Amino acid sequence: MIKPSDRLTGLSYGLRGPLPQLADTLEQQGRPIIRLHLGDPAAHGLPAPPHVLDAVKHALEHSRAYTDAQGLTAARDAIAAYYHHRGLALHPSDIHLGNGVSELVPLALQAFLNPGDEVLLPSPGYPLWAASVQLVGGVPVYYRCDERRGWQPDPDHLRAHITAKTVALVTNTPHNPTGAVWDPATLRALADIARSRELLLMADEIYAHLTYDAEHTVLATLAPDLPCVTFSGLSKICCVPGFRSAWMAVSGPRAATRAYTEAITQLASLRLCPNVPAQHAIPPALAHIHQTQNDLAGPAGPLRKRLDTAWEALSRIPQLTCVRPRGAFYLFPRISAATAPPRDITLADTLLRDHGVLVAPGNDFHLTSGDHIRLSALADAATINEAMTRIAHYFDTDIATPRTQTPTTA
Ligand SMILES: Cc1ncc(COP(=O)(O)O)c(C=O)c1O
Repeated sequence: MIKPSDRLTGLSYGLRGPLPQLADTLEQQGRPIIRLHLGDPAAHGLPAPPHVLDAVKHALEHSRAYTDAQGLTAARDAIAAYYHHRGLALHPSDIHLGNGVSELVPLALQAFLNPGDEVLLPSPGYPLWAASVQLVGGVPVYYRCDERRGWQPDPDHLRAHITAKTVALVTNTPHNPTGAVWDPATLRALADIARSRELLLMADEIYAHLTYDAEHTVLATLAPDLPCVTFSGLSKICCVPGFRSAWMAVSGPRAATRAYTEAITQLASLRLCPNVPAQHAIPPALAHIHQTQNDLAGPAGPLRKRLDTAWEALSRIPQLTCVRPRGAFYLFPRISAATAPPRDITLADTLLRDHGVLVAPGNDFHLTSGDHIRLSALADAATINEAMTRIAHYFDTDIATPRTQTPTTA
């Protein structure tokens, strides 16, 4: 028998775990499932900008060879120009392209973490980060995002969790799973902590242009004197997650970052280069990003309309209360205290088995209080309304007559 590596012990990524697997099985048995658990805008029919699709189509012929390990110069030039407009000075050599932020996060961590090093992560938070820290021998340590403050991170809670082993501080705005857009004052407070404790800042900004009546701040612009790695890509902001087109940019004093950048380049070389056709999508995508942002998330954009529809339908369920998201495309409601614990896992399990709706328990995002679920708001209005009707029905019927059941997810 081949035994899995010890590194995988306790590693969890519920978003692709037992519940979605059960959903697949139920569907194979002929039960249609409404899937509100993943953040995939393309799967829900949201359009990609035509210039992005055209760029990849036209690039195919010229994309057969490997590129430089860091990625195409034209794409890195476009990313440097984009950040220049946003107030961050970068050289193309500071930028590394990758097959999604999901590939770049483990790579960036591997390049500097030693066994036992601690990394501060938001809770709730996107599970890629904790899994990646753990896989490379580090220790995830969670700091609180405060629901009473619109899910803004709590700098005091974070400071209290710093030890002699803490080496990095991860931020994520707009935030998955809450949709919070972290305000500049709070980001400054986090940067001040990083400065005083010499922590590497790692900013996950994959939802950068998906905001509603709120402005996204590039963390690195608030701390040009600090080493910072900014992660972003086209998956969400151009609705092309299948393209696997992303980047990370290392900013800060070159004397402090040079060795780290070299280590990243060395690791990136091992995978030769990222998917080449998708790299060609980056220059046109960024050249027209404000138009795309308006088309998707502006007042008449489908992302905003779907989020509004989902929010309004959710607001009619008295057992769920939700901070209104100002970015991304998720709702992260609290389950009323009147229902019995463990509420999130039981609720997600029962909604799937008995009502054909797949949502993600808050537990999948390192929230152990058991009282939140995450729903993606990407489906069309009819689908969202149907899902919310089924969820309301669950509270009106099953909660009145609860049944015993073994949860399927951990
Ligand atoms: C916060 C966050 N970071 C990173 C990713 C991964 O993005 P990519 O498609 O670039 O791998 C996601 C995907 O949902 C995400 O929500």
